[in-house]
Amino acid sequence: MNEIRIFSPATVANVACGFDVLGFCLDSIGDEMVIRKTDKKGIHMVHVEGFDLPNETELNVAGVSALAMYEVLNVDFGFEIEIYKNIKPGSGIGSSAASAVGSVFGMNELLGRPFNKTQLTEFAIKGEALASKCEHADNLAPALFGGFTLVKSVSPLQILEIPTPADLYATIIHPQIEIKTSESRAILPKEVALSDAITQWANVGSLVHALHTCNYDLIKNALHDVIIEPHRSKLIPYFNSSKAAALNAGALGCGISGSGPSIFSLCKGLETAKRVKEALSEVYSKTEIDFEIYVSKINTEGVKILN
Ligand code: HSE
Repeated sequence: MNEIRIFSPATVANVACGFDVLGFCLDSIGDEMVIRKTDKKGIHMVHVEGFDLPNETELNVAGVSALAMYEVLNVDFGFEIEIYKNIKPGSGIGSSAASAVGSVFGMNELLGRPFNKTQLTEFAIKGEALASKCEHADNLAPALFGGFTLVKSVSPLQILEIPTPADLYATIIHPQIEIKTSESRAILPKEVALSDAITQWANVGSLVHALHTCNYDLIKNALHDVIIEPHRSKLIPYFNSSKAAALNAGALGCGISGSGPSIFSLCKGLETAKRVKEALSEVYSKTEIDFEIYVSKINTEGVKILN
């Protein structure tokens, strides 16, 4: 096999209470990429389509993660990368992670899978860091592993896979404004009150337990963020009315997807997820802000081969 086409999915990081550690993988939204072996040594970005992104290898997220892997390979050939981007950069649903994951996943497949998923995440972190100016893996891990993941630590990298209850769906609204991850990290406080920390880690533990036991009431009870959301929600117009509308339409919980501006809701069942979609559309269609809206099953497979 000399060439493959892959689907690299969008992801939701943080999942309300799990800033920088929790994430889950989406099904219906993602990028396509083609990875090809070539006689010419090195990593070559031959086509970047969809958004205005750099096509120099060292400046492209997919190129940088591919280079991180290529440096540890001892091969007398190279790789070409084509990217067909659907996930808008700065949307909060893991655009850079999808690019970073796609190149290393595709190369690994063409090489006969010498690396495991945690090792692939290590390479992809280098690409993600180019975009967000810090090394974190809460979008990368769900894109590679699928389902829900928890990044126990980045150094050494330790990723835990968390089961996905079968009836869980996500509704994502993406207001068409751009929020840079680096900027939305810069506004966060350096210290938090102990009482907030206690609430937050109780929620993270409860959410993980709820996912393991398919306890939808407990998912609902745990999907709260008392530390990050109060700061970042100020960057997202109509966040509070959207959240109220989603919860009123039956969502188990609603919060900022990654660093925003996308807003995610988790729902029990497809019908509820569709009702939440209607409710959120109604909020934003009364405003001056354009938006995209998606309903997605949780993708338990992650990045995958298309051909
Ligand atoms: N955990 C990261 C953040 C995800 O919220 O800043 C965005 O890349």
